[in-house]
Amino acid sequence: MARRRRFLFPLVTPLLVSCASSPPPSVSPTAPSPVETQASAFEVGAASAAPTTQVGLYLRFNEEFSLGVALEPRYLATWAPTIRSNFNRLTAENVMKFARIHPKPDAYDFEPADRLADFAREHSMAVTGHALVWHRETPDWLVAGGDPSTVAARLEEHIHTVVARYADVIDNWDVVNEIISDSPNKTYRDAEEGSKLSGVLGEQLSVLAFRYAETAVAASGKPIALYYNDYNIVLDDKRKKALELARTLQTEGIRIDGIGAQAHWNLEWPTVADVQRMIDDIVAAGLKVKISELDISIYTQDDWGKKNWEAEKPFTEELAARQAARYAELFEVFVKNAEHITSVTFWGLSDGHTWLDNEPVQGRDNHPLLFDDRGNPKPAYSALLNL
Ligand code: GLA
Repeated sequence: MARRRRFLFPLVTPLLVSCASSPPPSVSPTAPSPVETQASAFEVGAASAAPTTQVGLYLRFNEEFSLGVALEPRYLATWAPTIRSNFNRLTAENVMKFARIHPKPDAYDFEPADRLADFAREHSMAVTGHALVWHRETPDWLVAGGDPSTVAARLEEHIHTVVARYADVIDNWDVVNEIISDSPNKTYRDAEEGSKLSGVLGEQLSVLAFRYAETAVAASGKPIALYYNDYNIVLDDKRKKALELARTLQTEGIRIDGIGAQAHWNLEWPTVADVQRMIDDIVAAGLKVKISELDISIYTQDDWGKKNWEAEKPFTEELAARQAARYAELFEVFVKNAEHITSVTFWGLSDGHTWLDNEPVQGRDNHPLLFDDRGNPKPAYSALLNL
């Protein structure tokens, strides 16, 4: 989609960003997801700390893709103005994950997810469903007994129930999250790599999940898109395996509409060329792209192989300017490819509310989002608004 050019905010003039030589950090979420009980400066911030700039960031990208934010429902009430004026899509950061929404065989806990869905309905926002299958949020009861047909039936019931409940407001689901293996010798994550469901259902897991999701969507009568979602889709090897999964589904006549690239990236990695190649490959496979979990870490020297982490550093003006330029260059790629990109979602609202403060290093302050610890817009925000 062609797009009008606007004036460039001064902060976005091409700055440094040396990318090519730095090795891609394998951003592999290995710690538990942030939980609802975590303290957050963003939440602690008094009403007076609320941002003054609420000018509709999503409107800037209205012609290209929807703009989302992932959050916990407890942020909705206090920060409604910031959320509503800047985003037109929500993702449940945690509360729609299997173990949260369906903690016991006969008991669903819909309340937090309902609150998020109701907020979206009330304010005419779309919701991304996250996620029907994820190894890190698979309750033990789901695989108890170990009989494949019983486990498959439980999975089917879950998928049908959750898809039906939110079919009026969720327009796309992450059907399977992170089932691709990081090991060069395997395509799929198995029980050894933490997938209890793969331990029972083997490689059929994704086929079954997408089949159940497709049937559930058909029953709802709504046009709900079905995605595979993962980190490091920007890496050629990982992406190749994800596209192999998509091909398997397509060959079996099962619907998959797109690939969600999580986009837990940093100030230097990946390069713009990497991102473009990722989009091209996904599009060539006949699929849509969504940028599902975007955040830009200020740490570029973490070594995941050696588990050697960069020391905490202050968020200087120079870093803020680099981050603004970085967000701008990435959004330029997204805008250029807008006809293939359905949505771009930030993984968190503010720097006071980011999983990256505790991953990969517990308590290392990170500043990856558009709003600062107290919810005020950062240079990156202005850079995108003025892109
Ligand atoms: C992965 C998951 C998200 C979230 C992050 C860490 O990216 O898809 O739901 O848990 O890890 O917060």
